Amino acid sequence: MENSVKIFKTPFELAEKFAEDMIKMIKSSSERKEPFSIALSGGSTPELLFTLISNHFSSAVAWKNVHLFWGDERCVPPDSPESNYGMTKRLLIDKLEIPVCNIHRIMGENDPADEIERYSGEISAFTQNRKGFPVFDLVILGLGTDGHTASIFPGNTDLITSGKTCEIAVHPASNQKRITITGTIINNADRVVFLVTGKNKATIVKKIIEKSKTASEFPAYYILPSDGTLSWYIDKEAASLL
Ligand code: 6PG
Repeated sequence: MENSVKIFKTPFELAEKFAEDMIKMIKSSSERKEPFSIALSGGSTPELLFTLISNHFSSAVAWKNVHLFWGDERCVPPDSPESNYGMTKRLLIDKLEIPVCNIHRIMGENDPADEIERYSGEISAFTQNRKGFPVFDLVILGLGTDGHTASIFPGNTDLITSGKTCEIAVHPASNQKRITITGTIINNADRVVFLVTGKNKATIVKKIIEKSKTASEFPAYYILPSDGTLSWYIDKEAASLL
């Protein structure tokens, strides 16, 4: 297993380098005539990444070979300003030539208990299987200042080892319902990438990467793909305590 930590001067530089790396991954799958599945994240760094991809890389690859999924979604309709899908649609999907059938959104407007079953089936239908679980080619994650990732929050570390593909989560502060892929699925992926920017992330980044004693409280600490790679893309501010 290969793990790496890459530090960039600015969030823009981080997003630019990650976009280039992601384009290379997609191209190499296309050369092998294989589709490429990505589980996307919400959050501020992906917003920058999506804008950059639409401005500079919209014609760089055959997007018809790419299947977009989400690692988590808020239980809101797609036109809500809080929808991760809605944000991605505005900044990325609307700017790419990607077939509608390659967009696999979590339907935040559906009953969450039904939706986790439906979405788990959709993931399985479009990905390979390893050890009985779906395998994403790439999972993009953010990191909360409280150590959450996807929508797996502190106190819910059972969602890390869940035997399901997706689970319902509840945001600890707002009580908003979320749907999240589980740690089992994240850790079964071929490549997992954390994109982390900003000074307010410096403490949590240090605790998790340096495996401090208290890190076991944080869901992100348990992200370690068993057969894949883990890469951290961090800006200078978030890396300032490393
Ligand atoms: C979400 C995310 C969540 C996010 C982190 C980091 O839907 O809220 O998927 O896990 O990635 O909270 O967010 P920032 O990049 O905005 O700090």
